[in-house]
This record gives sequence, structure tokens and C-alpha cells, in this order.
Amino acid sequence: MPRVLIATSNPGKLHDFAGAALPHGIEIASLSNFASLPEVNEDGDTFEANARKKAEHYSRYAAGEIVLADDSGLEVDALGGAPGVHSARYAADQPHLLTNNTNDEANNTRLIRELKKVPPQNRTGRFVCVLGAARDGETLAVFRGQAEGIILDSPRGSNGFGYDPLFYFPQIQKTFAELTPEEKASYSHRGEAFRKFISWSIDHR
Ligand code: IMP
Repeated sequence: MPRVLIATSNPGKLHDFAGAALPHGIEIASLSNFASLPEVNEDGDTFEANARKKAEHYSRYAAGEIVLADDSGLEVDALGGAPGVHSARYAADQPHLLTNNTNDEANNTRLIRELKKVPPQNRTGRFVCVLGAARDGETLAVFRGQAEGIILDSPRGSNGFGYDPLFYFPQIQKTFAELTPEEKASYSHRGEAFRKFISWSIDHR
């Protein structure tokens, strides 16, 4: 089975990638020594800048191999696009100054608080995933996926990770935390970006 290397330690992302790869007969593997590698400071202003930075950095530790890295997050319209690139550390007072992540529950609590006075019709937002593919420190291509939804005022469902329980996806009337791995792969931002990578890799064999 062909194998794709992903530079992440996030079990939720790995699970999503494995779900997205399965129908293509592809195995997802984390970089073997990932935990011991120097970390990247995700200080880019855009998902693409951070995805490129991560993919380039980690690809230097897997000579000759294509390494994928995803930068992703939630953009909420009523919050001017926040938490955006700071999604993983939104619970912090000053997320842009923090380098380590805050936990999912704390991030969700802050999101609920920030949207407290926002009526249902204005609670629109989207998950965005930008996937960088790099080899030997150089970006080869980037792929973007997004999924449009509504932010709920209380969590629903127990699958997934991050903001999934607050992200209602009207198309199938479920939150992302109520999706099966197959459904998340077909509807999610990460699934879309990964399918674009697969098409690209077929054209570049
Ligand atoms: P980063 O890409 O590692 O900087 O972090 C992405 C953050 O965005 C995660 O920690 C989550 O909070 C959020 N996020 C990204 N994708 C998803 C998803 O599929 N479901 C729920 N939350 C997500």
C-alpha cells in the first residue's frame, strides 16, 4: 500500500487523514521521529504561510520523501475571521503571542462566550485546511479545502476533535462531531484538501 508522510502529532488530524486516505488505498504515517524533532514557530499570518513553513521544515528530516503538513482552523464571520490561524490557542489571552496550544475544551468555551450575543443567522463560519507538500525543504504545492457551517451555542456529538462539536454542517444536519470518519472525509476541509493532493500526486508520478 502506498504511504504518505504527515508531519503532525495531532491525533485528530491523523485520524482524519487516515479516513481520507482509506478510499484511495493509501496508508498515512506520521514522521517516524516526529516528537523528537525541533518544533516550528507557527507565526505566519495565513494558513498557507504556516502550512508551507511546517512542510518545508519537517521535510528536511525525511530526505527525498514528500512530507505533508496541514495548517487549519475555524474562521467565524461575526468575529472578523477569528480564531483563524490562532484556532489552536484561542483560549489564551493573547493567542498571537503564545507558541503552545490551549486545550480543545477551553477553546470551545471561549468561542461560545465570544458568540453569546450573536443571533443564529449571523453565526456563520468555515473550517479551512491548507495542506503543504514539500520535499527536502522546498514546497512543491499547496492544497486548500474548506467547509461552511454554523457555530452552535452548545456542543453536540462526541467524535472528532477541536471545534467539531460546535460546528453544525447544514448539508447533512449534523455537527462535525456527529460524523463518521467516512462522512468527515467526504465533507470536511481536510478531506477536500487531501483529495486535491491525491489528484496532484497522480499527475506528478
Ligand atoms: P494547527 O493547524 O495545528 O495550527 O491547529 C488547528 C486548530 O484548528 C486545531 O487545534 C483545532 O482547534 C482547529 N481545527 C482544525 N481543523 C479542525 C477540525 O477538523 N475539527 C475541529 N477543529 C479543527
